[in-house]
Amino acid sequence: MTMEITQTQKSRLSSVDFNNLEFGRMFSDHMIDISFKDGSWQEPRIKPYAPISFHPSMHALHYGQAVFEGMKAYYVDDNTINLFRLEDHHERISNSSKRMCIPTMEKEMFIETLEKLMQLDHQWVPKKPGHALYIRPFVFASEEYIAARAAKEYRYIVITSPVGAYYKEGFNPVSLTTTDDYVRAVKGGTGEAKAAGNYGGSFLPAQQAQKEGYTQVLWLDAKENKYVEEVGTMNIHFKIDGKLITPKLGGTVLPGITRRSVIAQAKAWGVEVEERRISIDEVFEAHENGSLEEIFGSGTAAVISPVGLIHHLGKTIELDREKIGPFAKKMYDTITGIQYGKLDDPFGWVHPVTVG
Ligand SMILES: Cc1ncc(COP(=O)(O)O)c(C=O)c1O
Repeated sequence: MTMEITQTQKSRLSSVDFNNLEFGRMFSDHMIDISFKDGSWQEPRIKPYAPISFHPSMHALHYGQAVFEGMKAYYVDDNTINLFRLEDHHERISNSSKRMCIPTMEKEMFIETLEKLMQLDHQWVPKKPGHALYIRPFVFASEEYIAARAAKEYRYIVITSPVGAYYKEGFNPVSLTTTDDYVRAVKGGTGEAKAAGNYGGSFLPAQQAQKEGYTQVLWLDAKENKYVEEVGTMNIHFKIDGKLITPKLGGTVLPGITRRSVIAQAKAWGVEVEERRISIDEVFEAHENGSLEEIFGSGTAAVISPVGLIHHLGKTIELDREKIGPFAKKMYDTITGIQYGKLDDPFGWVHPVTVG
């Protein structure tokens, strides 16, 4: 595959304070930029990170035909960086794109352009434990046309941002609340796609939860407001009576890559795993009868995020608010160990890129 590569004349690397990285504020020197027009993806371009120009009539601004991904590159040594479950991310952006009527991209183009970007910007992958280079691929309708139909032109862009350790001073359990004022997703809607508008619609309920003193909303199903689905940017898991219980996907939950990894790893350890509907009442009952052992979220940003509190209709479950449970901790250590190349990768999740 041919690519047009323009390297920056002035790297911004020396201006980065790798001891004080803020998520999503600083972007590496280069970006991938591929246009879709006349029915196909054009030759990929990798070029210096810079503003892009568009017309006020650009389709995505009006109708929200836009999807994205979130993944990370991990420093292994000066010649190797690891990408995690790249094919799964390609599959998910393809599924998100199909739902939003956006053309999909061949896996080879997705992977080879990312490998090239990593080779150009490998020095932006932070070296410290727990740090990583966050990778944000996104696709949006770029056509200059405000008719309410699927656009005919798109841009696929990938930018990357160095990020610090999610947990700086030990694990920090989050507190969640359900809401009966809002819903995140309905069956047949766009909840299982990583569509930009899903996030836009979730900010108001998240702000309300934060005003009430909770970290995030715990989403229940939209129909009965009864079954647990997921959290703002993570999936959720319950350890009850020795079993790992994870809400099943079924069209309204984002199919998290970390969720999939947690389930596979738990099964490999011989833990009984159930992917099924779990009601919020079942969680409260398990807490009351003493069988609720742990609650944790999973997602690319934090990998594993312990949940210390759940509030629902005036009732509260409080677990140990200071700590992470032993199962969640072992899961965190194992998945991050695989990501950073410190542990064997029995599932073939890691995609090493030779750099330097
Ligand atoms: C709504 C939502 N659920 C779950 C997740 C976790 O998915 P992953 O493990 O692929 O990061 C994310 C983050 O991407 C998300 O935005």
